[in-house]
Amino acid sequence: MPVITNIADLKRLHASRVPRMFYDYAESGSWTEQTFRENTSDFDQIRLRQRVAVDMTGRSTATQMIGQDVAMPVALAPVGLTGMQHADGEIKAARAAEAFGVPYTLSTMSINSIEDVAEATTKPFWFQLYTMKDTDYVSRLIQRAKDAKCSALVITLDLQILGQRHKDLKNGLSAPPKLTVKTLANLATKWSWGIEMLRAQRREFGNIVGHVDGISDASSLGAWTAEQFDPSLDWDKIAKLKEEWGGKVILKGILDAEDAKMALKVGADAIIVSNHGGRQLDGALSSIRALPSILEAVGDQVEVHLDSGIRSGQDVLKAVAMGAKGTYIGRAYIYGLGAMGQPGVTEALNVIHKELDTTMALCGEVNVADLGRQNLLVPQDFEGRWQD
Ligand SMILES: Cc1cc2nc3c(=O)[nH]c(=O)nc-3n(C[C@H](O)[C@H](O)[C@H](O)COP(=O)(O)O)c2cc1C
Repeated sequence: MPVITNIADLKRLHASRVPRMFYDYAESGSWTEQTFRENTSDFDQIRLRQRVAVDMTGRSTATQMIGQDVAMPVALAPVGLTGMQHADGEIKAARAAEAFGVPYTLSTMSINSIEDVAEATTKPFWFQLYTMKDTDYVSRLIQRAKDAKCSALVITLDLQILGQRHKDLKNGLSAPPKLTVKTLANLATKWSWGIEMLRAQRREFGNIVGHVDGISDASSLGAWTAEQFDPSLDWDKIAKLKEEWGGKVILKGILDAEDAKMALKVGADAIIVSNHGGRQLDGALSSIRALPSILEAVGDQVEVHLDSGIRSGQDVLKAVAMGAKGTYIGRAYIYGLGAMGQPGVTEALNVIHKELDTTMALCGEVNVADLGRQNLLVPQDFEGRWQD
């Protein structure tokens, strides 16, 4: 196994082992990719306060997210087409998360189905729901997630319409890939990916294919989204979905204090401050910059989580010290999965855990629950001065 020292090492391996179409799918933001870039560069703006001569024995990164014990405040974010990054990718990522003791969130747009993942794991995972025009199908999905004993429903609110990623259009992204001259030429250089993929349990959208009638092209994410996603989603519908689910609900994609207040009103158990990893509204604020105003609006009344841009344990520490109760990683574990399958996801989690633990110690803290603004140096105008 190559020596892995950080998430960037896994990203390089991912790029070399996975067909270009799927690497690009993960490594893109929408339009100019400004928000995608700033999600990471804004974390770099925050500095850490080094403290010394503090007894750093007996450290713990363990905490809770929505009342569930987690080994560190990091969950695996829902990522569509994970099973195209590595054969049976959702199963492998879920198993790695379970062994590590962090939550796994399965996307509606996964390759392995809800049932596949439930069968391959022993503890409850979380299910992420995209809302569709076909309400019967949505109800069936919710029922399937209940039957699989999923312990939270993550409803994604920032993708009623798909943000454009130029590379996906140019690459003709689909699952499974369509065999054109260009894709075949690239696949020929990724033979280990191909061999594994031939043995995969599934190569199509497992939650969709065989569960919905009359889809013209289930292999194309763009076509499916345009046809099926519900552009009329509003807070009333969200409240009804919450009722239908009846369990813990996490609302994902909140980037504005007013929306955070609405999420509170419909009774969310947690919200995720997220811009979908810079894949939706290009030009929106980075999640870490949006976090303080949302915490100010609702932070004492609902659990606030954050994703978008986390590439290290230092980033996790910064988000938690700013006030997030939990974080999610998307690309950071996808790089690991593409690089090495399940051991790669474990490696990504190990890297982040070690960085979090060491950084915490050097900041003079022994318990993740004690992290706070005292550990950070935040630029004075970090949130930005925007005109009314
Ligand atoms: C390749 C890819 C696919 C994604 N698919 C979904 C999805 O199906 N559902 C969803 O709610 N979010 C999806 N997201 C967004 C992630 O859940 C998460 O918000 C994002 O990856 C966080 O940013 P990060 O990648 O910088 O950690 C996807 C992100 C990526 C990179």
